[in-house]
Amino acid sequence: MGRLLEVKNLRTQFKTFDGIVKAVDGVSFYLDEKEIIGIVGESGCGKSVTQLSIMQLINRPGKIVGGEVWFEGKDLLKYKQHGPEMRSIRGGKIAMIFQEPMTSLNPVLTLGYQLAESLILHLKMSKEEARKRAIELLGMVGIPSPEDRIDDYPHQFSGGMRQRVMIAMALACNPKILIADEPTTSLDVTTQAQLLELMVDMVHKFNSSLILVTHNLGVVARYAQRIYIMYAGRIVEEGTCKEIFKRPRHPYTKGLLRSVPRLDVEGERLIPIEGLPPRLTDLPDQCAFLPRCPYKTEKCSTSPMPELRSVPGEGHKIRCYVDIPEVDYATV
Ligand SMILES: Nc1ncnc2c1ncn2[C@@H]1O[C@H](COP(=O)(O)OP(=O)(O)OP(=O)(O)O)[C@@H](O)[C@H]1O
Ligand SMILES: [Mg+2]
Repeated sequence: MGRLLEVKNLRTQFKTFDGIVKAVDGVSFYLDEKEIIGIVGESGCGKSVTQLSIMQLINRPGKIVGGEVWFEGKDLLKYKQHGPEMRSIRGGKIAMIFQEPMTSLNPVLTLGYQLAESLILHLKMSKEEARKRAIELLGMVGIPSPEDRIDDYPHQFSGGMRQRVMIAMALACNPKILIADEPTTSLDVTTQAQLLELMVDMVHKFNSSLILVTHNLGVVARYAQRIYIMYAGRIVEEGTCKEIFKRPRHPYTKGLLRSVPRLDVEGERLIPIEGLPPRLTDLPDQCAFLPRCPYKTEKCSTSPMPELRSVPGEGHKIRCYVDIPEVDYATV
C-alpha cells in the first residue's frame, strides 16, 4: 500500500476582531491507499478547517500560513487556489462531502445536470454518456427509479435521499480520496447508520480512500483503521483504531471515550468532559487541555505545550507529559 496523502505541519489562521484564530496549528497526518482514517474532536477544534485547507477552500479572513499537502508527488499548497491544477483536483481526484448537503447541491439545477456537469468536466464524457452514468450512479446509491428522478431538483428529495445523491456526486469521478465531513449529523440515527454504511461500501467499490471527520467515536470505531484525535487546532493523539480504543493515553481521548456514544457498547454511562475548549485566539503556552485535565501535574503547568511523542503500540503518539496508567477502556 502506498502513501496517498501526507499533510505536514499544516497551519491555518483567521484574522478576526478578537485576534488571530489559530484554527489549525501544526497538524500532520497521512492517508494510505484504500485506507479509512478518522479525524475526531469536539466542535471548533479545527477538523473542517484542516480538510478545507487540503482542498485550498480557505477564504478571507482565513489563510493557510504554513505546511505541506503532498498528493501524488506534488505539494498541493504550491498550486494557486483558483488555478487549473486545484480546480481539477477538487471534485476530481479529491472529493468532499460537506456538513450541510444543501450547501453543495445547487437548488436551481436538476440532479442530472449537476452530476453530468461534473462527469463532463472531470472525465470528459459526452452529454449522453454522462447522463447514462448519472442514472447508474443514482441507482448505485439506492435512489429508486433513478431514470425518473434524474430530472428532479434537490428540494424534491428528502434529507436522507439528498445525502445519497451527495455520495453519488462525490464518487462520480472515481476520486482517489473522499473527505466526508460529518455528513450525517442532521439526520436520525438509523438513516445516519445506513448512509455511512453506503458511503463506506461505495468507497470500497471505487477503491478510494476515506477521511471520516466526526465527533462520534462510535462511527470511527466501526470503520476507521487509524484515528487522529484533535484538540484546539492540534493533533493530541494518534494511533490504530484498536490501540486508541483499547489503550487511550491522552486524557482528552479518555474523556471523549466516556462522553461519546459508541455503536459497539450497549447501556454505557455517558460522562461529559467538564469545561470548554480554549478560545483559539489566546491559546496558553502550556498544554491546551490543561484547564480541563483531571490528570494534570506540576510539570504540565510549568512546561510548554508538549510535543507529540511516541508511546508503546504501533504508530501510537500522544501530545501529553503524563503517562496515564494503561487501563482497558472496557473496564472503566
Ligand atoms: N470564517 C471563519 N472566521 C473566523 N473563524 C473561523 C472561520 N471558520 C472557522 N473558524 C474558526 O476555526 C476554528 C475551527 O473551526 P472548524 O470549523 O474547523 O471546527 P470543527 O472541528 O470542524 O467543528 P465542528 O465539529 O463544529 O464542525 C473554530 O474556532 C472556528 O470558530
Ligand atoms: Mg466541522
